[in-house]
Amino acid sequence: MAIERTFSILKPDATARNLTGAINALIEKAGLRIVAQKRIRMSKAEAESFYGVHRERPFFGELVTFMISAPVVVQVLEGENAIAKYREVMGATDPAKAADGTIRKLHAKSVGENSVHGSDAVDTAAKEIAQFFAGNEIVG
Ligand code: RTP
Ligand code: MG
Repeated sequence: MAIERTFSILKPDATARNLTGAINALIEKAGLRIVAQKRIRMSKAEAESFYGVHRERPFFGELVTFMISAPVVVQVLEGENAIAKYREVMGATDPAKAADGTIRKLHAKSVGENSVHGSDAVDTAAKEIAQFFAGNEIVG
């Protein structure tokens, strides 16, 4: 299996409830290495561009408002099969459908305020990492 990097966001509902450490513990327990991390306040333009693929969806406005409502922690995670593995650790988008032990089952508030983001493919992971991190900020 290939060593991959994926992009992660600890969303505003997570930072607001002081869950950065609890979620990072689940990430590390799953064997993923946090090779870059910073706490930022996303701008409206950044959130709109980041979730641009969902621009036509009915929840887009609500999603952007949520993502800029409080600080987020952006991260790069590294490990074997990191993209699929992190999606597994996160659990389903809707916490009611997420498997036991996943981040979203344990911590998410709702389908919208669902604590974490993780890239869904190799190309989106590379694009998302480049949106928030310079190469010298990622230390593997
Ligand atoms: P993400 O992109 O944040 O990792 O989440 P995902 O792949 O599991 O889900 P996606 O379909 O890409 O949706 C992106 C985010 O939009 C919000 N959402 N709200 N109210 C709703 O019905 C609804 N559906 C999606 C969630 O924050 C979701 O993570
Ligand atoms: Mg997605």
